[in-house]
Amino acid sequence: MSDATAIEHPTGLTPGDFFAVDEPLRLFAAWFAEAKRSEPVNPEAMTLSTVDADGLPNARMVLLKGFDEHGFVFYTNLDSVKARELAGAAKAALTFYWKSLQRQVRLRGSVEPVVATEADAYFATRPRMAQIGAWASKQSAPMESRMAFEKAVARYAAKFGIGEVPRPPHWSGYRVKPVAIEFWQERPFRLHDRIVFTRSDASALWRKTRLYP
Ligand SMILES: Cc1cc2nc3c(=O)[nH]c(=O)nc-3n(C[C@H](O)[C@H](O)[C@H](O)COP(=O)(O)O)c2cc1C
Repeated sequence: MSDATAIEHPTGLTPGDFFAVDEPLRLFAAWFAEAKRSEPVNPEAMTLSTVDADGLPNARMVLLKGFDEHGFVFYTNLDSVKARELAGAAKAALTFYWKSLQRQVRLRGSVEPVVATEADAYFATRPRMAQIGAWASKQSAPMESRMAFEKAVARYAAKFGIGEVPRPPHWSGYRVKPVAIEFWQERPFRLHDRIVFTRSDASALWRKTRLYP
């Protein structure tokens, strides 16, 4: 690629002028919409970073299931390693990388559980087998054999029959409430654009800063 302006930006924001946007959620929404159009697999995949009781970082992918001015939501098993780590330190970082757009977005902030009604509403939209899987999986616990897991799936499938599958008590969501959101756009010769929005807490106004790449 010889010229950064040659990159097509359906939002109308060229790499140079995405600095003009003052509201990080609006920029995130524009970039996410583009990623959904251009990323062949899982544009909503993001790395969730947490720390354990010794301060040792841990990271894994999860799926973004919603975002708004209140934060960025993902769902998981509440007995998992990540849930244990969040119980010890309710702070996290989220990282997106959309290869097709050569863009990275990073967020950091505190984490809070979503309310039960919100988790119920999302769980109800999941495919039935995924709902049954949520009952059968003891996420992050050692598994004696694949057969044991498949038996558990069959047991829960029989238990719920054709009725509605309720949300398991050990399955819910978390909301990351960002105090920093950084947008990174690749440009030729590693002269990338970086813009970070920061605020002192989740209710304060955003401050925008351009960073060296
Ligand atoms: C693309 C992708 C998306 C994933 N989405 C989720 C998710 O939304 N929720 C989840 O609990 N695990 C998800 N996983 C699995 C996690 O990366 C991880 O293996 C699992 O949650 C256990 O992590 P833990 O032991 O650190 O708690 C996903 C994995 C990949 C590769």
